[in-house]
Amino acid sequence: MTDDLLFSTFQLKNFTLKNRIGIAPMTRMSSDARSIPRQDVFDFLVRRAETGAAIVYTEGIVTDYESSQGYPGQSRLLTKPQIDAWREVVKGIQNAGSLAIMQMFHCGRMAWPEVNPAQRSIAPSPIPPTQDNPLTQQPYPIPEEMDAFDISHVINGFVETAKGAIAAGFDGVEIHGAHGYLINQFLSSYSNQRTDMYGGSLAGRYRFAHEVIQAVSKVIPKDKLLIFRISNWGIADMEVSLFADQNEYQEIIAKLNQEPLDAISVSTYDFKEKAFGTDKTMAALSREVCDKPLMICGKIHDRGSAEEALLHADIVLSGKSTLLNPNWLTDIKTNKNIPPFTSDQANVAYTTEIIL
Ligand SMILES: Cc1cc2nc3c(=O)[nH]c(=O)nc-3n(C[C@H](O)[C@H](O)[C@H](O)COP(=O)(O)O)c2cc1C
Repeated sequence: MTDDLLFSTFQLKNFTLKNRIGIAPMTRMSSDARSIPRQDVFDFLVRRAETGAAIVYTEGIVTDYESSQGYPGQSRLLTKPQIDAWREVVKGIQNAGSLAIMQMFHCGRMAWPEVNPAQRSIAPSPIPPTQDNPLTQQPYPIPEEMDAFDISHVINGFVETAKGAIAAGFDGVEIHGAHGYLINQFLSSYSNQRTDMYGGSLAGRYRFAHEVIQAVSKVIPKDKLLIFRISNWGIADMEVSLFADQNEYQEIIAKLNQEPLDAISVSTYDFKEKAFGTDKTMAALSREVCDKPLMICGKIHDRGSAEEALLHADIVLSGKSTLLNPNWLTDIKTNKNIPPFTSDQANVAYTTEIIL
């Protein structure tokens, strides 16, 4: 590896990235009743673009008014005021020479129904997470098993939100298939115990993700990006391996590799950790079965870790380090000693105290 690989360009479809570093999607819970984020949250995204990141992700944006919202203050990108508000942010990000990518999110069983206008909690199977909701200190409600109407309605929410992103000028959209949220719930036998064509075998459990990707891909122009994020861990019941073993995980990545996706983003808690009892990391296992561009995230905090992460991926994403340190990219460039931040420190994300 050359010394400057991290700051070398990368061709992502028709886009030339100026370096290999992106700002990971981070929910800020700042939106008002119109589902539009606070101005300082918008400013944060533009500022991080100005610090030199090649890609800036939005927070996870919920896809409908029925059941997708799992946290207070999440944003939507469906109405004209929402689209108009995001258009300005997108321009700011692009004017700084970065790509603006919108992430789409549906919480599924990770629900707090009271924050949803329709107050519903739906999931592949009526099984709640074991862990209590950390925000309410209450058990998660038992979700309704999604029927055929719910499935098509939810897919339509992803499609309409993707259209909103395109109307706002985003360079691409990402489908959030990670962290134990709805799409991840369908993929994993831990949360999907359906006996119809959306459950059972791995092919059955993959069907929902496939239908979402296919439907969304039809509204993404050829010169824009479609990305899918995946993880083997969920925000609740974090210790559970969502995929049974290396084979199951690699079969899913191989299926994603056949989809009309421009990149796959692998989210880990710590990118260095070996996965599924093998001596390989999640990125290395993904690379074995995927020839699309790969993004990797998880405890990439200094130059050494970022360079190591690029051994099995093309782009590194940073969450907490870029959230809490506005000079992170400069610090990386100058090879400063930068310790990782903790999840507790990242709770400042839900306040107005972030240093822009
Ligand atoms: C405050 C906060 C909010 C987050 N929100 C999202 C989100 O909306 N969508 C998502 O895919 N990941 C989300 N994440 C996870 C990050 O994108 C990233 O995967 C994780 O923080 C690990 O990377 P890090 O070690 O660099 O922080 C969030 C993380 C933090 C700290």
